[in-house]
Amino acid sequence: MDYHNKLVLLLLILLIQGHIAYEIPNIALQAFTPSGLRISVPADPEIKLFGVHFNINKDIHELETGEYNEDISRPENGKFTYFNPTLKLKEGDTVYYWVYLQVGDLGYKKDGEKYTVTKLLSIDQFEKARTCAPSITIVDGESSCVGEVILDAKFVSNTIDENIWLIEQYYADEPDFEYVIYKNDSSVLTSQNNLLHIKPKVDEDIVTSNVNIDGCTRKRQHECTRVFINLYQHPVISARLVTKKTFSFGEYKVRAKLPKGDWLFPEIYLEDIEDLSKKIWISYARGNEELTGNNGDDIGGKLLFGGPVVDPLEPKKSRYLKTYRNNQFIGNEMHTFSLRWTSDEMLLYIDDINYGTVSSTILKETGFNSPRKMRLVIGVGAGGPRDFPDNYKSKSYLKPWKSTSNNQVKMFFTSRSNWLPSWKDSELQVEFVKISAL
Ligand SMILES: *[C@@H]1O[C@H](CO)[C@@H](O)[C@H](O)[C@H]1NC(C)=O
Repeated sequence: MDYHNKLVLLLLILLIQGHIAYEIPNIALQAFTPSGLRISVPADPEIKLFGVHFNINKDIHELETGEYNEDISRPENGKFTYFNPTLKLKEGDTVYYWVYLQVGDLGYKKDGEKYTVTKLLSIDQFEKARTCAPSITIVDGESSCVGEVILDAKFVSNTIDENIWLIEQYYADEPDFEYVIYKNDSSVLTSQNNLLHIKPKVDEDIVTSNVNIDGCTRKRQHECTRVFINLYQHPVISARLVTKKTFSFGEYKVRAKLPKGDWLFPEIYLEDIEDLSKKIWISYARGNEELTGNNGDDIGGKLLFGGPVVDPLEPKKSRYLKTYRNNQFIGNEMHTFSLRWTSDEMLLYIDDINYGTVSSTILKETGFNSPRKMRLVIGVGAGGPRDFPDNYKSKSYLKPWKSTSNNQVKMFFTSRSNWLPSWKDSELQVEFVKISAL
């Protein structure tokens, strides 16, 4: 404050001597770690200016400018606030200060004030609390703020961030019994060119061998070891990542190119860690280019599915699913698939086209109106008794196994001359997975 302003201020103070005393509201001081000092006063609409003058650990005299000073003329979030982000205070430090308030045409001063730091607040927590609009989205049991980005997984620098993802290794079993063994195999699972790649392969030797999965990520014995007796072992080696955190509600966006190839399917969904048969599909399209039933209906790779699945068996399985029919194979190119899930509805999108809304009635019926612990899955499945109905025709040949047969894996495997040639472009490629709080 320069000499001229000081004079004006003095005059103003003299002017108000005769008026009814104005009670200056409480001045709040907050010292932060690692640094920062905040001095604020509630923003009465009559207040035009808030002037702050202070010294650290040194008395300040009436009308002395002070080591630090500033006039704040605009309120923010209901307060006039002085904030010095770099000032580092420690416990026991004293701020000697006086403030000046211009209220309407009059000036008021409060001097001889001091504040001794007794506790330093965390600046991050303070900023979060100050700017946080509470969201219904839950991450690992903790609430979040509206719009907050909760997970932003990209696959740059040829790595899979194992802080975010668990690379699963197990022999596929309940709930879908797909004919797959999930492994961290560098010929199947890679991160390169800024994309995650999962390219399933057939292991011709494994079908009649004992299986023993090193580093198995499941607890049940038969998901880790299988002795070969006479039923064929799962012939497809694939990969599957799951998030280490769990989520409830929110916006889920996955940009991916879905796998193409007969009897393949993407696993891009949320799954309930307390009941793995409860899922919310974000993006599902079968890898068969055409898959037609007796009445000509095509459930192949032009048809996208999304929504809640609470029973692994048809007809209940697809009862609540929404579909979108594309004019070409969905796996021909990258798309952004999204799910917006609140306690009232689920909205499903492909590239910003909203193709389905799951109503609040259905959310109640499926239990997805209340919070659950869901982890996000990225993987590729193949075959199995529950993803492909019997008697459907894949272009030129009938589905080669019966879903109820004991020999279903063998039937699938031994017919590979029909389907393996179609696995030329069988990779699932994922550019990003982004989860935000709603
Ligand atoms: C997965 O395999 C890669 C090598 O291909 C290795 O660097 C990584 O540590 C493995 N991760 C786990 C969890 O086994």
